[in-house]
Order: sequence, then structure tokens, then C-alpha cells
Amino acid sequence: MRRFLYFAAMSLAINAHAQNQPSLKDAYKSCFVVGAALAPAQFTGQDVKETQLVEAQFNSATPENVLKWALIHPRPDTYEFSMADKYVEFGEQNHMFIIGHNLVWHSQTPRWVFEDDTGNPVSRDILLDRMHDHIMKVVGRYKGRIKGWDVVNEALNEDGTLRQSPWMKIIGDDYIEQAFRFAHETDPDAQLYYNDYSLENEAKRKGALELVRKLKAKGVAITGVGLQDHVSLDWPTADQIDKTIKEFGKLGVKVMITELDVDVLPSVTRSADVSLNVASDSRLNPYPNDLPEAVQQQLTNRYRELFRTYAKHCGLVTRVTFWGVTDKDSWKNDWPVKGRTNYPLLFDRNAQPKPAFDAVIQLAPK
Ligand code: XIL
Repeated sequence: MRRFLYFAAMSLAINAHAQNQPSLKDAYKSCFVVGAALAPAQFTGQDVKETQLVEAQFNSATPENVLKWALIHPRPDTYEFSMADKYVEFGEQNHMFIIGHNLVWHSQTPRWVFEDDTGNPVSRDILLDRMHDHIMKVVGRYKGRIKGWDVVNEALNEDGTLRQSPWMKIIGDDYIEQAFRFAHETDPDAQLYYNDYSLENEAKRKGALELVRKLKAKGVAITGVGLQDHVSLDWPTADQIDKTIKEFGKLGVKVMITELDVDVLPSVTRSADVSLNVASDSRLNPYPNDLPEAVQQQLTNRYRELFRTYAKHCGLVTRVTFWGVTDKDSWKNDWPVKGRTNYPLLFDRNAQPKPAFDAVIQLAPK
């Protein structure tokens, strides 16, 4: 009983603390929704502190993994909906704009999707059927509840050409429009997005602009483009981001910042290709205990610059989503080098706001 009372009191104290803080969602209410990618511990209540932080700070949610093909549809006849159901329930209870991530991607997709019983590639028709069934089942289950879908994720190479993924090799370049058509047919009211990283780099941006132009010309129901924004302290520049937002805006699509985090560690790549895995080395992990004050300041300045750029485009930018909640469980601690201590988000390992949080709140439009 005493233990219970202690935990209940702790939980109330944390809750009161979380609620007394200014919130990102309120500060940017007139501009865009502010979201976070959530892991099960944060939407099942298992991590009380982080769950309360999410409830207090964010009005949009993205599932970090639970809706990806490998997790929700691991075998041909098996759908595992229980975690995704909990995610959507959590989002609804908290009146969040709920995102689905993602439907068609080359990564975290089981090999069986592309192969027949003998391990050979399936035909175009079979793969289109599999894509159609998957989209109908998953989008259909959450129809009217998940409000926006990353329909196709990371279809482009750095030079702006289409990535030779199994989707592309087997179906051909119309796989993208097919995915959008299947999603639109299943939930005509859902917003549908193309999502990718490094779109601020000129060659890749041109490829993405061309892709969106073609989709629009064919009457495909694309609502927006997601700029992942897994950025570093010095790349991309505010000008590159500004230009990218404007260029997509000119095509009549909304822009969302979908996976924001700022890598403060020595850079090994600018890509966000999840298949990268660089060997660990202590020189690549310079701040295992604490972030030096000077770097904290750089991080704060960088967040200030990013939010100033996003807020310049209120209304065109409709959402800014962080890829994670606190530094403790960010994927950046394990990618592209395993076992590092990174500091990419606005909340520290104890779920406390960092100076960058205050900076972001302070420059919100009044
Ligand atoms: C990452 C997750 O954060 C990790 O937990 C997982 O192991 C790999 O994927 N681009 C995306 C996201 O679109 O889905 C990726 O998420 C990060 C890069």
C-alpha cells in the first residue's frame, strides 16, 4: 500500500510538473501541429514519465515501428494488429492527429513479400495484388482514425533517380502511383504523403519535385511531402530547407517535417539509409556522459534556426514531428553507429526539457 501511494504521489508530481511547463503543441497552435514518433512504452503507459510528457507536449503522433510491414504483416496470412490498435487508441484518447507510417518501403519489409514459394521474384501482378491487399487491410482497419499516411517511403536515390528497390524492379516505376491509388480508394478522406530524407540536396529535391509533378498530372491524390529532417548541426542549411519548402509549396502540396532530430556526434554519413552500420569507435562517441556546454549551445542555436525556418511557412508546413521523445530512446544512439550516446531531441534522458526546448518555445509566433 505504501509503495502504491508512493508511486501514485510520484506520478502526480511528474504529471503536475509536465503540465506546468509550456507546451510545444500550444506554442505552435496557430502554425502547425507538433508530433513525436512513439514506441510502445510511450503509448501503452509502460513508461509513465514519457507517456505523460507525450500527452502534455504533442498533438500529433507517428508510430516509430509498429505499423511497418515487417511488424504488422510478418507472414502472408498473419496480421499483428494489437500494438497498432493500442497506438491508435492512445492517439484518439489524447485528441492527436494520428499518422500511419508507412505502407510501401524497401526496408523493414519481409522478403516473402517479393518472393514465391521457391524464393524466386514474384510477377508484377502478384506483387501488385499483395500491395493492394496489405493497403486495404491496414488502411481499412484504421479508416477515419489514422488521418494521414506515409504511403511511399524513400523511393529516390541521392541523384534524384528512382531507387532500384524490389518494388521498382518487379512492378516498374508506376508502383508509386498504384500505392497512392490503393490508399485513396480505401480511405478517400485520409491525407496521403510521399516521405523521404535529404530532399534539401539539390539533385534529390529535383527528382522529388518531378515525381510530385507527375503524380499530380496523373490525378493521383497526393496531399503532401514529408521532409524527414534527420539533420546535423550544419547540414542542411536554413536556406536549403527554406527553398525546399517553397518549391514543394509551388506544386500545391503541403509540407511536413516528419522525422526531426539533430545529430551532434561526429558525422559518418548524411544519408538516413537504415541499412548503414558503421563500426563503433570511441572517437565517434565523444560525449558518453554529458554534452559539453558549447555543444549544447550549438544544438540550441540549431533548433532555433530550424523552427524559425519552419514557422516562416505556417500553413504550408502543417506538421513538425520529432523522431522520438527523449534522448534516451532515440534511434540516433544506435544508428549509423551502434551504442553511442547522442543528444538529438528537445528532452534529455530524464525527460527534462533542454535549453533547445526553451528556445523553440520562445520563438513561437505570438
Ligand atoms: C527507424 C526506427 O527509428 C528504428 O527503431 C528502426 O530500427 C529502423 O527505422 N527513416 C524512416 C524511419 O522512415 O522509419 C526510420 O525509423 C528512420 C529513418
